Amino acid sequence: MKNAFIYHTTLLFTCSTLLLGCGKTDNPRANSANNSTATTSATDYIPIGIAFAQTSNIALLGQEGTDGVKIAEKYFNDKGGINGKPIKLIFQDTGADEVGAVNAFQNLINHNKVVGIIGPTLSQQAFSADPIAERNQVPVIGASNTAKGIPEIGDYVARVSASVTVVAPYAVKAAIKQNPNIKKVAVFYAHNDAFNKSETEIFQRTVKDLKLDLVTVQKFQTTDTDFQTQASNAINFKPDLVIISGLAVDGGNLVKQLRELGYQGLIVGGNGFNTSHIFSVCKALCDGIIIAQAYSPVYPSAINTAFRQAYQAQYHKDPSQVSAQSFAALQVYVEALQSLDKKSQINKLTLPQLRTELNQQLLTGTYQTPLGEIAFTPVGDVIQKEFYVAQLQMEPNGIKGKFAFLNIK
Ligand code: ALA
Repeated sequence: MKNAFIYHTTLLFTCSTLLLGCGKTDNPRANSANNSTATTSATDYIPIGIAFAQTSNIALLGQEGTDGVKIAEKYFNDKGGINGKPIKLIFQDTGADEVGAVNAFQNLINHNKVVGIIGPTLSQQAFSADPIAERNQVPVIGASNTAKGIPEIGDYVARVSASVTVVAPYAVKAAIKQNPNIKKVAVFYAHNDAFNKSETEIFQRTVKDLKLDLVTVQKFQTTDTDFQTQASNAINFKPDLVIISGLAVDGGNLVKQLRELGYQGLIVGGNGFNTSHIFSVCKALCDGIIIAQAYSPVYPSAINTAFRQAYQAQYHKDPSQVSAQSFAALQVYVEALQSLDKKSQINKLTLPQLRTELNQQLLTGTYQTPLGEIAFTPVGDVIQKEFYVAQLQMEPNGIKGKFAFLNIK
C-alpha cells in the first residue's frame, strides 16, 4: 500500500509539474514538445479536413456532403470566420471503401495538418478510418454515419448524424399509419455494409415490437445490380410491407425490380435512400417510398432559412438531410473554435494542443443548426429533438420527384 501511495503521489506531482493532467484527453499540452509550431498563426486560415466520397458508387451521397460543407464554409467565413480568421476546407476523396477512407484521413492529418475532420461518408469506412484519427488525437465529426457504435470508436469521434436506432422506427410507424392492415413484412438488407447491418437490426426489432409478422429476410450486396432472386423470393410470401436497408444505387434498383415483378405494397427505405439522387435510379417506380428524416427543409429557424436559401440559390433544389448534417458538422467546428479562441487564443496553441482542446470544446456546446438544436452526449453522439418522415412523390415521367413530408403526430 505504501509503495502504491508513493507512486501515486509522485505521479500526481510529475503531472502537475508538467502543468496539466496525464490523461489522454486532459493533457493536450503534453504533446507540445513534438510540435512547437503554433499552427493557426502559421497560415492565413484554419484548415478543416473533409473526407467524403467524390468518386465511386457512393459519390452521389458524398456529393451531398460536399454541397453542405461548401455552403457552410461561405456562410461562416462571410460572418468573419473564427474571430476574423477564415476557415478553409481541405478535401480528400475517400472513394467507397475502407482503404480510400484510411488514406484520406492520413493525408488530412499528416500532410494537410487539419485541425479536425468531417467524414467519412459511410459507417463502413468510419470503423476503419476513425481509429486513425483517434490514435493521432484529431477530432472527427461524422456527418452521415448512422450505424450503431460510431461515437464509441474513441474519445475523438463524434457525429451529428442521428443513429439508426433513433431514426429508423419512425418510418415503419408511418407506414402502418398509412395502411393499418399491414401484417406480413419482408425485410431486405445489404449484408456487406456496417450501417445497413446495423439498420436492419433496428427495423427487424421494430417489426417484432409492433407485433407484425416478419415473413422473410433477404440479403444482397451494395455492389449488386440484379435482385431478381431475392425479390421473387420475398414476393412469394405476399408481404404487405417491404423494408429495405441499402444505399441509393443498389436500393433504388431493388425497388425498381420489386415493382417490375409486381409488388404493389408499401416500401420503407432506410437512411441510405435519403437522397434525391435515388430518383435517377428507380425513376417513376420510386413513387411512394417512405423514408425517415433527421432534417426538414422547412424547419423554422433563422439559420435553417439562411442555409436553405443559400442552398437553393446554388443548387436550385431543397437541401437533403446529408447536406444539412454536413453544414451542421462544420458549424460545430466553427462555433467550438470561436469559443476556444476566446478562452485560449488558438493561434498560440500548437497543432496537437489545438486538436485536443477543440475536441473537448466541441462536446460541451449547444448549437442552433439547420437540424434544430443539437448537443452531444459525453461519448459524442448527437442529441437531437426533431425527426420527420417523408414519402417520395415522383412525376409520371420519373425525372422529377420530391420528398413529401408526412404528418406523423
Ligand atoms: N448512413 C449511411 C452510413 O452510415 C450512409 O453508412
